[in-house]
Formats: sequence, C-alpha cells, structure tokens
Amino acid sequence: MAVFLLRLFSCVLGALVVSAIVHASAPSATTTAATSTLTGIAATAPTIGPSQQVGRLPALGWNSWNAYGCNINETKVVDAANLFVSLGLADAGYEYVNIDDCWSLQTRNASTGRIVPDPSKFPNGISGVADQVHALGLKLGIYSDAGTNTCSGFPGSLGNEAVDAEAFAEWGVDYLKYDNCNVPGNWTDTSTPPDNDWYNSNSAIRYRQMTAALNQTGQPVHFNLCIWGNANVWEWGARVGHSWRMTGDVSASWSSISSIIAANAQHLDAVDFFSHNDMDMMEIGNGGLTLQEQRTHFAAWAFLKSPILLGTDLNNLNATQLDIITNAELLAFHQDPDVGTPATPFTATASAPTTSPPEFYAGNSSKGTHVFIINTGTMAAKTFEFANVPGLGSGNFTVHDMWAGEDLGTFADSFSITVNTHDTAALLIDRA
Ligand SMILES: *[C@@H]1O[C@H](CO)[C@@H](O)[C@H](O)[C@H]1NC(C)=O
Ligand SMILES: *[C@@H]1O[C@H](CO)[C@@H](O)[C@H](O)[C@H]1NC(C)=O
Ligand SMILES: *[C@@H]1O[C@H](CO)[C@@H](O)[C@H](O)[C@H]1NC(C)=O
Ligand SMILES: *[C@@H]1O[C@H](CO)[C@@H](O)[C@H](O)[C@H]1NC(C)=O
Ligand SMILES: *[C@@H]1O[C@H](CO)[C@@H](O)[C@H](O)[C@H]1NC(C)=O
Ligand SMILES: *[C@@H]1O[C@H](CO)[C@@H](O)[C@H](O)[C@H]1NC(C)=O
Ligand SMILES: *[C@@H]1O[C@H](CO)[C@@H](O)[C@H](O)[C@H]1NC(C)=O
Repeated sequence: MAVFLLRLFSCVLGALVVSAIVHASAPSATTTAATSTLTGIAATAPTIGPSQQVGRLPALGWNSWNAYGCNINETKVVDAANLFVSLGLADAGYEYVNIDDCWSLQTRNASTGRIVPDPSKFPNGISGVADQVHALGLKLGIYSDAGTNTCSGFPGSLGNEAVDAEAFAEWGVDYLKYDNCNVPGNWTDTSTPPDNDWYNSNSAIRYRQMTAALNQTGQPVHFNLCIWGNANVWEWGARVGHSWRMTGDVSASWSSISSIIAANAQHLDAVDFFSHNDMDMMEIGNGGLTLQEQRTHFAAWAFLKSPILLGTDLNNLNATQLDIITNAELLAFHQDPDVGTPATPFTATASAPTTSPPEFYAGNSSKGTHVFIINTGTMAAKTFEFANVPGLGSGNFTVHDMWAGEDLGTFADSFSITVNTHDTAALLIDRA
C-alpha cells in the first residue's frame, strides 16, 4: 500500500486518484494495481542513470548562446576559456566552457553517420577546442537536441544517440546540453504517461536514450536536460541527468529573472546533490538589468543551486560585475561540499505579504544558517523574526553580510535591513 501511494503521489494528478482509492478499496485489493502495466516503448526504454562521477554540485561555467547566438567559432570559445584564467573566474571555481547550437554542418558524414563540426567555424574540430580548454585545466561542453534537428536546424541526436555520444566522448567532451526542438509527432506526449509516472513519458524516454548512450561510452559526462520544464521534469530529472531546465529561455529583463525565480520556488524539493533545477544561463553583461537586478540574478541562482553559466562576452564584464559573479561567500553556499539542498521560502513575520517570487529564503550551509531577502518592490526595510527561520529559535544572533564579508552586529528577536529595489540581501546568522 505504501509503495502504491508513493507512486501515485509522484504525479500531479495523483492526489485526486489517491483520495478516491483510499475510501473505496481495502488494502489487499491494491496489490495487483501496484504491478507495472508498462507496454511498448515505455517497457523497453533504457533505465540506466547518469554518471555519479560528475554533476554532484551545480555546474559553474560559461555558454556561448546569450553572447553570440549562432555566430560562434573556435576563437570565441578559446578566448572565453583564456578569460576564465585571466579574470580569476577559474580560481573562483568556474570550470565548464560550453559550446551551444550551430557548431556543425547541416548534414552528417554519409559514411560514418557522425555530426561534422563546421570546418570554417572550428578548423581544428571540437577535439581541437577540447585540447586547448583542457590544457587550461577547464572542461568543454557541447550541445545537441532530443529531436531530429536542433533549434537552429542543425542535426539533432534522436535516433542517433549512440553514434553521437561516441563522437562526443572521442572528442573529449565533458558536458552535454540536450535541447528539445523538432520532436517528431509520435514522440510527443498527448496524454497522461503510463503508470501516471512522467519518467515513462515519451519526453523522458527521448532523454533516457541519450543517458544510456553516454553511459555506453564509459566516459562520465555532465548531462543537462534542456526540456523547458515540460513533462514534470523535476519529478524524474535526477534519474536521467544531473540538471534540467525548468522554464523557457531567460532574457535580460527583470520580468524574466523574477518569473524564473518564482517558477523554481515551487519545486525546490527536487534539488540536492546530483539533482539541479536549471534556471538557464546568466544575462549579466548583456544590459537590460540594473546593478541590483544583476546581484539578484546571481544570488538567486546561487542560493537555489542552479547551474551558473555566464552568458556574455566576458570582455564586457566590468569590475563591479566581476565582483558579483566571483563573490566567495555566495559561491561557497552554491558549491557547499556537505549540504546539497537549496535555501527555501519561509514566512518572515506574521504580517509579511505574499509576493511572487517569495522574498524571504532560509537555508543551511556548512558555515551555518543563511537568510536571503529579494526585494520584489521598491527600496524598503525588510524584517524577519529569528524564531521564524527554520532551525534558529529565539534569542540573540550575530548577522553577517555575505556580499560585503562584514559582520553587521548582534540583534535580539528580529533583524531589519534596507534592501534596494530588486536587490538581494545575503546573510549568515549565528547564535550570539
Ligand atoms: C554506467 O552505468 C553503470 C551502472 O550504473 C555505472 O557503474 C557506470 O559507472 C556508468 N558509467 C558511466 C560512464 O556513466
Ligand atoms: C571568429 O570570429 C571572429 C569575429 O568575427 C574572428 O575575428 C575570428 O577570426 C573567427 N575565428 C575563426 C576560427 O573563424
Ligand atoms: C566522412 O568520414 C570519413 C572517415 O572519417 C572521412 O574520411 C571522410 O572524409 C568524411 N566525409 C566527409 C564528406 O567529410
Ligand atoms: C516514432 O517512430 C520512429 C520511427 O518509426 C520509431 O523508431 C520510434 O520508436 C517511434 N517513437 C515512439 C515513441 O513510439
Ligand atoms: C558596471 O556596470 C554597471 C551597470 O551594469 C554599473 O552600475 C556599474 O557602476 C559599473 N561598474 C563600474 C566599475 O564601472
Ligand atoms: C537547517 O538545519 C536545521 C537543523 O540543524 C533544521 O532544523 C532546519 O530546518 C534547516 N533549515 C532549512 C531551511 O532547511
Ligand atoms: C540578549 O542580549 C541582551 C543584551 O545584551 C541581554 O540582556 C539578554 O539577556 C540576551 N537574551 C538572551 C536570550 O540571551
């Protein structure tokens, strides 16, 4: 009975079904219902999981798309890798240099069936880029698609998973972003999936085929499911990959950033070691956001433990922006070796208004308890009671500002701080 209930609860429609069954049937009647009824492709699809040698912590790196779109080449990718080192990003923990869409020719090699890197953009192939990136102590990411073609119309990997995974492994690829465009009609999901479990959906199976192909190569690859929050991916993503996109594409605007935070705040139970909701790439450096909004963009991605993939021409970043994205205390929270869970919303005071996204978050790290406060409105004092922070209780506490690396003093019962419009306060709290 317990197993049966858990299985039903794992899907959105489950709760309604459970209440009907609990009232209608005796426990013994559920034994047969718990037996899997999988048929067809859901019964035969691979079930192997992602590598446990990589992807324990959320990825830190760069991706070419927000900066260059389709207009990429070897020079731009290798320049980004060199800037990781010269700007101190590598020392701060940034590691993945990821090539997005548009790296290949339109047609596969007729004799090998492989995707062919465009020789005008990548004269040394992808392996030539991997060698240069690896020589700097960094890792290389590539992009493909769980459909017939990528979003920009280049070859996708659906039906060619084995040959593509083999090529990526041979080239030395460490990370795969796997997009969701150009899905053939028979691979879409038109109804509730078998057993009411979205892991059995056609969408999930398109991704599971690539997990198995990556495993077959014998090389650990960080596998990112770029599935835009479809098919309840937060319920099964960790059985298939290391991180999964929760929404459509980010853009450089406060409405985009704040709506992505709001969408993620609903599914934070999914986040832990090897299991990361991907809030999409950074827009810092691309205009469109105030400095305060850029701080919130970085802080929220860090305290919700999303992958953080910079998305600009790194030459564009000024000193203030570099300080934001290399903030040691926020990065330490994001990359904590002992605590995999993110900060989650809490009720700051009895009179705190409900906002979207939520304004107050609390979380643990190996350093202690943290509170993060996003001001979703205009500049104002923001107050929380220590007793309302999970795990703290009442009494006197010291409060430390993680942005400035400074102690703010000792406070009784509650703490109040002025937070600028769309800015985020980041605090570490200790019992005094
Ligand atoms: C492939 O899967 C097996 C079984 O789970 C695992 O032991 C092995 O490490 C995996 N290899 C890779 C490269 O993911
Ligand atoms: C990449 O593009 C830049 C800017 O257009 C150009 O300067 C550079 O030579 C190109 N590199 C390659 C390998 O095509
Ligand atoms: C296809 O791959 C084979 C084997 O690597 C190679 O010899 C051939 O030149 C390739 N064909 C084209 C059109 O690139
Ligand atoms: C869709 O059709 C292709 C080609 O016939 C087939 O290989 C694939 O298994 C089908 N997908 C599903 C989900 O049935
Ligand atoms: C960097 O750019 C931001 C705007 O994005 C600006 O507010 C800030 O003052 C700039 N910092 C420096 C050091 O120029
Ligand atoms: C932090 O850990 C404490 C136990 O040490 C726990 O009571 C509290 O709920 C945790 N806080 C969060 C936000 O998970
Ligand atoms: C909090 O600090 C005040 C002032 O130092 C002190 O009087 C009070 O006893 C402390 N309360 C607790 C619970 O330690």
